[in-house]
Amino acid sequence: MAPMPELDHLLANNRAWATRMEQAHPGFFQALAAQQRPQYLWIGCADSRVPANEIIGLPPGEVFVHRNVANLVVHSDLNCLAVLDFAVNVLRVKEIIVCGHYGCGGVSAALAPSEGRVVDHWIRHVRDIAKFYKDQIELETTPDAQSRRLCELNVAVQVVHVRESPVLQSGRAGEIRVHGWIYDVGDGLLRDLTPMVDEVRALEPSCRLRA
Ligand code: CO
Repeated sequence: MAPMPELDHLLANNRAWATRMEQAHPGFFQALAAQQRPQYLWIGCADSRVPANEIIGLPPGEVFVHRNVANLVVHSDLNCLAVLDFAVNVLRVKEIIVCGHYGCGGVSAALAPSEGRVVDHWIRHVRDIAKFYKDQIELETTPDAQSRRLCELNVAVQVVHVRESPVLQSGRAGEIRVHGWIYDVGDGLLRDLTPMVDEVRALEPSCRLRA
C-alpha cells in the first residue's frame, strides 16, 4: 500500500537517519539485526516529551522499553507482565527503571473529577494511589505541587509493583535492581527517587509471597 503522502516527511527523515547512523557506525544495523542485548528495561509514560532512549543518551539496542499512560505496572496487565517476563528471563536485564515525569496528564487527571472516558478507567489506578496517600498529597498547598507529589508517589508505588510481580518474585529477584526516577519536562533532567521509594515500600500493603 502506498504511504499517505502527508507522512512522506517522516519516511524521508527515516532514510536520512539510517544513512547517518550507518555512516557514523558502519555495520550498526547488521550487528543489531543479529541480536538485541539491552541491559536496561525502561517502564515509562507514553507522553511524547519523554522518549526513553533519547533522554538517557542510548542508541537502538541498549534499552528495552515499555510505555503506557502514567507509567503504570498493574498486577493484571498482561502486556506489562509479558514485557517484564521477557526482559528478565529472556533478555536477562539486571536494571529496571520505572520513570515518571512531572506534568503527567494521567497523574493530573487522577486529581480531577473523572470524565468517564476509557482512559479514566486506566487512570483509576492512579486515583487509588491518590486516595491512599491523601494526607501526604494534601501537605502540598497548590494543585501543581500536589500533582508533582503524586507523580513521585506514583513512581514509587510502581517500583513496588515491579518488585512484587510474579516475575521478580521468582528466580532472578536477587540479581535485579529496580530504580524509581522522575523526569522534568521543564529542564530535561532526571532525578533519582530512591529515598521516596524506600519510604513508600514501608507503607505499601504488601502482597509478598510466603517464603
Ligand atoms: Co505522563
